[in-house]
Amino acid sequence: MAFSRQCVRDADVDGRRVLVRVDFNVPLKDGEVADDTRIRAALPTINHLLERNARVILASHLGRPNGQVVEGLSMAPVAARLAELVGREVKLSPEVVGARASALAQALQPGEILLLENTRFESGETSNDPELGLALARLADVFVNDAFGTAHRAHASNVGIAADLPSVAGELLEKEVINLSAVADDPARPLVVVLGGAKVSDKIGVIDRFLEIADEVLIGGAMCFPFYRAKGGSTGDSLVENEGIPLAAEAIRKAAAGGCELCLPVDLALGREFSADTEVMNAEGTEVPDGWMGLDIGPVTAADYAARISAAGTVLWNGPMGAFELGPFESGTRTVAEAVAASPAFTVVGGGDSVAALVQFGLTDGVDWASTGGGASLELLEGRDLPGVMALNEA
Ligand code: 3PG
Repeated sequence: MAFSRQCVRDADVDGRRVLVRVDFNVPLKDGEVADDTRIRAALPTINHLLERNARVILASHLGRPNGQVVEGLSMAPVAARLAELVGREVKLSPEVVGARASALAQALQPGEILLLENTRFESGETSNDPELGLALARLADVFVNDAFGTAHRAHASNVGIAADLPSVAGELLEKEVINLSAVADDPARPLVVVLGGAKVSDKIGVIDRFLEIADEVLIGGAMCFPFYRAKGGSTGDSLVENEGIPLAAEAIRKAAAGGCELCLPVDLALGREFSADTEVMNAEGTEVPDGWMGLDIGPVTAADYAARISAAGTVLWNGPMGAFELGPFESGTRTVAEAVAASPAFTVVGGGDSVAALVQFGLTDGVDWASTGGGASLELLEGRDLPGVMALNEA
């Protein structure tokens, strides 16, 4: 996706009210933010605005409260964590729009921050109700969209509002689009794409596109099992997405007809059950015996994938190679993560579980880009236009 949008750096924001849509949809535990990666990722835009004396109004969703006020999904813990990170007060509006939100926005001084309550407490958010978009727009003079993780949604706080205000991209959203797009647009060769996770259907759009663009597509995680079945192999008690089998068959056919090498695991780590305490066995080939389930790629496969990653010019990695949250089955994902982090290639890691794996192994600094987007990064990699990006003003 070409990035031709205006950016916050070039916008007239000094001293003005700026509504920034951020993606603070973060995991909570015991009423506190359990992982602040997405909050940290928004700091370049927030700090830029503070340096320019803007009056910063932040808006985000949290979870899926479906238009109801759900106490456990209040933005209060996020406000507290953000205040620690920016080292200044973050006021929390008890509502998204309305008289109290307007009064707080009006009273905001240059260099102050106001966080609106969870945008999905409003039923008009996910239906992209134009009235909600307009009410949000009336709080500010300029709209900045920095919520890359939400850019695949057409909601009032990221798309509707842009119809009623000058609208520019934040620093994070701009970098996300540029880095993720760079993988498909004229990549340094060879382009090696490593895909894992549970379901073929989640990734089939990315598989299809990169079978046309990449030099090698390496498959791991439970999504290898529909491929095994499509090739006539057996999967024992492994987690198999049956709807993925015809998709896998088609991908195998497409790879054979084109110039991209499609690699499946040649060995696996098996367990009796999905547990860290289970009996473990390594098995070669694409046959999983009954009574066993594949829970990780095996060491031969992991070494082969690591060698391919090391020799690449560009690497895209999306999805773990196995159940890396279970100690005995983390090895394949760890080996791939270490290879990606050490590779001299331009390396991009798609959001969600693979970024969580990088964090778990302390390898985040080794990659060129770790995306904050889950669904948004997949849709962009599929080559689709993201509504949250399309709604911004062209440069
Ligand atoms: C995400 O976490 O992927 C985004 O914040 C979007 O959340 P959603 O899937 O609930 O729309």
